[in-house]
Amino acid sequence: MTPPRKLHIKSYGCQMNVYDAQRMVDTLAPEGFVETANAEEADLVILNTCHIREKASEKTYSELGRLRVAREEAARNGRDLRIAVAGCVAQAEGEEIIRRAPVVDVVVGPQSYHHLPQLLARAARNGKAIETEFPAEDKFTFLPQPKSDAIRARGVSAFVTVQEGCDKFCTFCVVPYTRGAEVSRPVDKVVDDVKRLADNGVRELTLIGQNVNAYHGEGPDGRPWPLGKLLHRLATVPGIKRLRYSTSHPRDVEDSLIEAHRDVPALMPFVHLPVQSGSDRILAAMNRKHTVRDYIEVIDRFRHARQDIAFSSDFIVGFPGESAQDFSATLALVMQIGYAGAYSFKYSPRPGTPAAEMREMVQASDMDERLARLQELIDSQQSAFNRAAIGTTVDVLFERAARNRGQIVGRTAYLQPAHVMASSDIIGEVLPVRIEGLERYSLLGELATTAPAQSARTAPSQTTIGA
Ligand code: 5AD
Ligand code: SF4
Repeated sequence: MTPPRKLHIKSYGCQMNVYDAQRMVDTLAPEGFVETANAEEADLVILNTCHIREKASEKTYSELGRLRVAREEAARNGRDLRIAVAGCVAQAEGEEIIRRAPVVDVVVGPQSYHHLPQLLARAARNGKAIETEFPAEDKFTFLPQPKSDAIRARGVSAFVTVQEGCDKFCTFCVVPYTRGAEVSRPVDKVVDDVKRLADNGVRELTLIGQNVNAYHGEGPDGRPWPLGKLLHRLATVPGIKRLRYSTSHPRDVEDSLIEAHRDVPALMPFVHLPVQSGSDRILAAMNRKHTVRDYIEVIDRFRHARQDIAFSSDFIVGFPGESAQDFSATLALVMQIGYAGAYSFKYSPRPGTPAAEMREMVQASDMDERLARLQELIDSQQSAFNRAAIGTTVDVLFERAARNRGQIVGRTAYLQPAHVMASSDIIGEVLPVRIEGLERYSLLGELATTAPAQSARTAPSQTTIGA
């Protein structure tokens, strides 16, 4: 028998890429590849790239420069190191990658991962292989299922892609170009995947998609099911204790999703709902298709359905034409909503997007200052939110042994890490924890004997907001 070949995947960017990396491992397992965390011993390195990041292509090329040296070093030791580029930079750059970095054997776009074994074989025969078209067939039908031991090794919390692509065309964003048009997986396929995950110890699911609440997969009744209905169905799969979904667009929040938050206890009261800006003028220039008022109304609908719900968001500062007044409106919106956390980015142009043609650039020094002010405000809200947990009893899903001996770490409903001293038997269980303290972003507590009272949880709207 030939010894297993070693595969190292370096993933950048979003949860979708983390999930895709796992599916690439599953696809290559039948070819005799086993995953390694150590790039130096790998026979195949896959760069799973992200185009949302600033200077994404340039960063990919400099990483490929390092891999060229690694390949020469491997060759001196009699090893043949193969290199593939996957993800959204592969999609956007295509052949250009091999032209600029001849060290690359395979370029594969996100819709073609199921062809990886054939692409590697073709590269072995012809030197190179590229596939960045959007194939007609659904890649999910062809991607092999992960083996039971692979699922178990990945732990109690898993991602499942239910939707891919986006039709929204925000003017700053590359996703509609790199991931293509919005498509949803059929309900039965998702349910089958989830049953398999649950049978192998998964207790928490995060349904992912670039615009996950645009989900409209075909149901067993032959009609399109909205996300809320899918969540209802998945909550009935034995073993599944928690459900989440990410990332949502404010325009696509249907009543069925709000109802799911009201009626499905397994659906966690924590929603990532990017708004990007608090100024209607900028939202229009971004082609977000919603106003500040629309956003606040959506938040109110969620809060009405579930009083302990909390939110996170994404913000872009310094979008072309953003005035000091527009930025103040963003700060005002953050103050009004009160977030449990949020990501904020400086605007940077992505080639091929409409915003990249816009001329009114905000000065770099203004961008820096705005980003720092926004982050300070968000940090203060996040700290207040975390501090509000102290003295309360909250449910924690335990995930793994912590680095500190004897401690087990899990997550609260709001994804806050929580540590307790306990035996590893509790991994995979949801148990009440009395929160006693906070160390940076981690909660520290003790297993409680009583269940948490609903009112003990604090929504961010009830915390005092600083800054
Ligand atoms: N510049 C800055 N941030 C961006 N994002 C997407 N495109 C850009 C860009 N061109 C941010 C948005 C999005 C998050 C995933 O990345 O806030 O929600
Ligand atoms: Fe990009 Fe999200 Fe806008 Fe779609 S909705 S274009 S993924 S920012």
